[in-house]
Amino acid sequence: MPQISQLFFKTAVIWLIIGLGIGLQMGMSGNHNTIATHAHVNLLGWVTSAIFGGYYALNPAKAQKRLAMVHYAIYTFGLIIMLPALYFMELGNPQLEPLLGIASLITFAGVLVFAVVIFSRESVGVHEARRA
Ligand code: HEM
Repeated sequence: MPQISQLFFKTAVIWLIIGLGIGLQMGMSGNHNTIATHAHVNLLGWVTSAIFGGYYALNPAKAQKRLAMVHYAIYTFGLIIMLPALYFMELGNPQLEPLLGIASLITFAGVLVFAVVIFSRESVGVHEARRA
């Protein structure tokens, strides 16, 4: 499996552990205040990161591109800021909203980089080799 897929899956499973932890905490305490954090950690952290990892595993040529690492770095950095900000906001810290907004935009930028990866050509080298 390409290194970038390993990275995405390792990061994804950490988000899954955190996301389930928050779910269990909500279930056991009966306090569901952190429902949005739970949903976003599981869906943006676990599910989406795992889909990214799967995409690169199925497209090893794209996995070799520097853009794949840029995608990982921007997306994961965005989540590392965004999800704790959301968590503490839900626990009663509304002053974190601007930080949450900025981090959400960084996460979105990471997704736009992924769109560029998807629409980019498989490998310039391969195309040039075919033409030769
Ligand atoms: C140990 C596993 C899990 C536990 C204990 C758990 C627990 C909970 C609890 C207590 C709620 C709040 C329900 C409410 O207030 O209406 C919730 C909501 C939610 N959970 Fe989980 N959850 C788990 C796993 C997951 C996973 C794996 C995902 C997604 C991949 C997920 C996605 C969601 C979503 C989207 C909501 C919001 C649902 C809504 O707003 O109606 N959960 N979960």
